[in-house]
Amino acid sequence: MYKIVFTDPIYPDRAKKIFKKQGILFFPKNKKQLLKETKEADALITLLSYSLDKTRINEMPHLHVVGNYAVGLNNIDLSFCKKRKIKVIHTPKVLTRATAELALTLLMSLARRVPEGIELCKKGEFTGWKPDLLLGKELKGKTAVLFGKGRIGKETAKLFKAVGLKIEWIDRSSSVSEIKTTLKKADVLSIHTPLTPETKHWLNASKFNLLKKEVMIINTARGPLIDEKALISFLKNNPYAGAGLDVYEFEPAIPKELSKLKNTVLLPHIGSATHETREAMADCLFEGVLKALQGKSPWNQWKG
Ligand code: GLV
Ligand code: GLV
Repeated sequence: MYKIVFTDPIYPDRAKKIFKKQGILFFPKNKKQLLKETKEADALITLLSYSLDKTRINEMPHLHVVGNYAVGLNNIDLSFCKKRKIKVIHTPKVLTRATAELALTLLMSLARRVPEGIELCKKGEFTGWKPDLLLGKELKGKTAVLFGKGRIGKETAKLFKAVGLKIEWIDRSSSVSEIKTTLKKADVLSIHTPLTPETKHWLNASKFNLLKKEVMIINTARGPLIDEKALISFLKNNPYAGAGLDVYEFEPAIPKELSKLKNTVLLPHIGSATHETREAMADCLFEGVLKALQGKSPWNQWKG
């Protein structure tokens, strides 16, 4: 029997079904219990908001499998896991479509000022059709630059193409001059790359200087990919630009300055939040963790 500790109650019924008699599952109710249970844990199942750093890993001498209920692994000290030969399992592929659909949702909401329209209606301030009420931007024929050509980037490109956007790519291997010329063309800039020490603050003040004054920035990846302070000052200085964000630099904190701006659409990190996807994430994670505990290499094991 493997001892499997959950930092949070993630689909307990689906977990029980998959681990059956092969695992004893623990759902600690507080930090103290969690610390106690993880001392003996063979596997730990975590959320992206749980920072699994060296200190915590060292408190778990028996740990040999970590299951992260996310595709992004920036909350985990991966090199230390590698050193300790801890296998890391995550949830790629199953959330690609949901995340891409949310990127399109953010873009269309921003372009057509959907949150402002909703607010007007709900406050009872809609007083009749007007020629200039909430004029937005059309997407057809405009250029979307996508940073990151992984699964989510590619799926987002498909959806963006369907609304008539032309697609241009940059990624971590693009040259400085390539990045410069491409960013200058962007009517939309959408970010789809993992957060690593190298990509932190990728979109910084010097890149903002290259962008058009009416660019629409979409981030469904990780908050710290954008220097949030630089973003706020760019949005303040360029009211025809805008940002559709699902993630924040200091999540869950959202700076007041950002939420007060009219040219932002803000969502609470719900990229993968559909019933279908969250269930599929749970199943592939639990199946992967069980296989890894049994000494196999599941398809969704981080290979870094
Ligand atoms: C969500 O942000 C994820 O990484 O799965
Ligand atoms: C993205 O990284 C995915 O797994 O879809």
